[in-house]
Amino acid sequence: MKRILVTGGAGFLGSHLCERLLQMGHAVVCLDNFFTGVKSNVHHLLDHSDFELLERDVAAPFHIEVDEIYNLACPASPIHYQFDPVQTVKTSVLGAMNMLELAKNLKIKIFQASTSEVYGDPHVHPQPESYWGNVNPVGLRSCYDEGKRCAETLFFDYHRQYGVNIKVGRIFNTYGPRMLPNDGRVVSNFIVQALRNDPITIYGDGKQTRSFCYVDDLIEAFVRIMATDDSCTGPINLGNPSEFHIVDLAKMVIELTGSKSSLVFQPLPHDDPKQRKPDITLAKSVLHWQPKIELKEGLLATIAYFQNHA
Ligand SMILES: NC(=O)c1ccc[n+]([C@@H]2O[C@H](COP(=O)([O-])OP(=O)(O)OC[C@H]3O[C@@H](n4cnc5c(N)ncnc54)[C@H](O)[C@@H]3O)[C@@H](O)[C@H]2O)c1
Repeated sequence: MKRILVTGGAGFLGSHLCERLLQMGHAVVCLDNFFTGVKSNVHHLLDHSDFELLERDVAAPFHIEVDEIYNLACPASPIHYQFDPVQTVKTSVLGAMNMLELAKNLKIKIFQASTSEVYGDPHVHPQPESYWGNVNPVGLRSCYDEGKRCAETLFFDYHRQYGVNIKVGRIFNTYGPRMLPNDGRVVSNFIVQALRNDPITIYGDGKQTRSFCYVDDLIEAFVRIMATDDSCTGPINLGNPSEFHIVDLAKMVIELTGSKSSLVFQPLPHDDPKQRKPDITLAKSVLHWQPKIELKEGLLATIAYFQNHA
């Protein structure tokens, strides 16, 4: 049994990870400042004797005795990471540095929740890990994209300079229960609008594509990457390579919810990528992992959640 720190543990992905680690028999320390995370995400874990909740900001240094770290703390939706961009950079960069210092001092493994946003608006499709990306350094999304890129730099420099055992996963669009209903991410947006029979907002002509990974598949990949030997640092793409047009996702959500919603088209936001699809060749060979849950199955589980929470 290990004692494992999950930063951002009260968020969407973090709460599923805490649950999974407890199920595996580990003790979990969940650190969160509740910027986008909510206590209700981990409420059902509070009575668990091996679960501990700490209200802290990852950007401030702190010490704790643990055996592994999963660093997930960072708002992930554009609405939230653009709300206070300076804080987003601090969370990404200072947060990564603080957690890496902890990992260095304790000589333990550390996982970084990086993102497909490091590829920006990609010129290469699908995106392999070797692609360096096409990122605007001064745009509205830069606080997140460049913050996460700098965090990756720190991870690799701590690895080369201090021998820290790092695991960097580049996460592509993931969805599932416990996404916030109002955070502007496409799957939750569409489901909430459909359940309310409100018009479904599509930015651009809806022909831009995304690939969607169900949360349980992603958490399985997190656990597998952490279990790899010291030579496996990543970065490794983690996501579902099945590609869908945004407009087709909207139609599928309408069908599965039985909604009366119509589609409305609005201008594309600044720097919105036109295509995003992971090349998961590396994850398949190194982690023996690929997503198993079809979009329809994942959407039904997510719709069931939002029927009770939206
Ligand atoms: N969900 C996705 O599709 C996706 C895709 C790519 C990368 N990621 C990454 O995965 C991680 C988790 O994403 P998520 O979708 O669960 O988002 P989320 O917003 O639900 O979770 C982030 C959590 O971090 C917490 N947090 C934010 N700033 C903090 C700080 N300074 N100190 C402590 N806690 C802080 C929030 O309160 C929240 O609980 C993020 O790092 C995100 O960048 C997610």
